Amino acid sequence: MQAVGTQEIIALEQQYVLGVYSRPPFVLARGQGSTLYDTEGNAYLDCVSGIAVNALGYNDPGITQAIHEATETGVLHVSNLYHTAPHARLAQLLCETSFADKVHFSLTGADANEGAFKFARRYAREQGHDEKYHILAFSNAFHGRLFGSLAATPRPKYQDPFKPLMPGVRHAEFNNLESARAAMDEGVCALIVEPVQGEGGIYPASAEFLQGLRDLADEYDALLIFDEVQCGMGRTGKLWAYEHYGVEPDILTTAKPLAGGLPIGAILMRQKVADAMHKGDHASTFAGGPLTTHVAHHVLRRVSDAGFLAAVERKGKLLMELLAEINSPHTVEIRGKGLMVGMELDIDTSPIVAAGYKQGLLLVNAGANVLRFVPPLVIREDEIEQVATKVGDLLQQV
Ligand SMILES: Cc1ncc(COP(=O)(O)O)c(C=O)c1O
Repeated sequence: MQAVGTQEIIALEQQYVLGVYSRPPFVLARGQGSTLYDTEGNAYLDCVSGIAVNALGYNDPGITQAIHEATETGVLHVSNLYHTAPHARLAQLLCETSFADKVHFSLTGADANEGAFKFARRYAREQGHDEKYHILAFSNAFHGRLFGSLAATPRPKYQDPFKPLMPGVRHAEFNNLESARAAMDEGVCALIVEPVQGEGGIYPASAEFLQGLRDLADEYDALLIFDEVQCGMGRTGKLWAYEHYGVEPDILTTAKPLAGGLPIGAILMRQKVADAMHKGDHASTFAGGPLTTHVAHHVLRRVSDAGFLAAVERKGKLLMELLAEINSPHTVEIRGKGLMVGMELDIDTSPIVAAGYKQGLLLVNAGANVLRFVPPLVIREDEIEQVATKVGDLLQQV
């Protein structure tokens, strides 16, 4: 690859790339394990993982091998017009490791949620309910930025510049069953919820809330959709976050870490949902291609291992304990599950994220005042100790 200077790349981006992202003043060039390096050789311990994507970290030999196996065939893409083995095998493994009977692949998390909405509307129509098309979503949720998923993401900053949104979406308060019940009627075909809210600030749902939503969905013959795009695939120390709750959905969406950094999403569903969908009802050119599905099969096999998941749980507890020991007067609450941890402060966290870069630490906000920790799931315990030490130093500086 051509050697380039940091300033040159930043100048090129400023000239040629749409300015919808705020990026810090360094250029990432390579990674190893849980550490990223910039073009000047500075190291950053990564608690972001490409926003909960790089579950197996950087330069993982198993992923490299899986990419090699997939590319050796010479077939990167054939379209969903044809059968390929990796597509079928990944769907099988997803079903065998979850509640689901059938899988449909997408490209991103938002795309998976859009598909789930379509499937829910189709399901209602198949039952003969033409007016049953509303989606019930919850406060503080994040389901994506396409028109359907954006309509289910109730934040004025994201929604207002792009109105009108997709009609037929209503909202109730997260973790408030009475509010959900009040919003429910025969017009609702699906309820969508993140078992652990990510972008909204790392808020786990309560068990009563998820069970209550399950009961409401059953009462009204609506579908319960769990958006596990961020909290699924081992992030919380169980393969699927719903396993913490003993409540199963009718549809589950997953994406981010599924192919270890390659773009993929998947919609997992019960047979009754699959039965409502017919040939030609939904499709995508790239989704479920042989490269991404072969790599995803490797990632899912690794992440679903009981020992791997137990380590995630243990490391998550360690991280929460060490963050609590910092004992900063600014700490409001430390919460989360597994390696999906939020540290809520009584101050704006953006300056802390920015100061973290100078300490060699990548962090990302969740909301205005929550520091989010979603490191690679392979992060080591000594690295978690380093993270906590760095965060302690940063909090002392404020
Ligand atoms: C819970 C959840 N759902 C959906 C999405 C959207 O995923 P994507 O950015 O891949 O479209 C995200 C992204 O952060 C997410 O956290």
